[in-house]
Amino acid sequence: MSAPQVEIKVRDDGPYKVTGPVRLVDADGGVFDVPDGVPIALCRCGRSADKPFCDAAHRAAGFESCPRAARR
Ligand code: FES
Repeated sequence: MSAPQVEIKVRDDGPYKVTGPVRLVDADGGVFDVPDGVPIALCRCGRSADKPFCDAAHRAAGFESCPRAARR
C-alpha cells in the first residue's frame, strides 16, 4: 500500500491543516485559489471571516476541540 498523498491534520483547538495536492471547490463547483505545495488551514470552528479558510478567529472565540483517533 502506498502512502497517502494528502494529509489532513486535526489541530488541537484549531483548523484542519491540509497538506498535499488538493482541489478545493465550493458548492457550485467554483475552485478556490490554493497555492501549490503550501499547506492550507480550513476553519473548523465556524468563526472565520475568510471561510473556508482559517483566519485564526478560533483563538479569540476560545474554540476547544481535541479529538483523537481510536487506537487500533
Ligand atoms: S478554525 Fe481557525 S478560524 Fe475557525
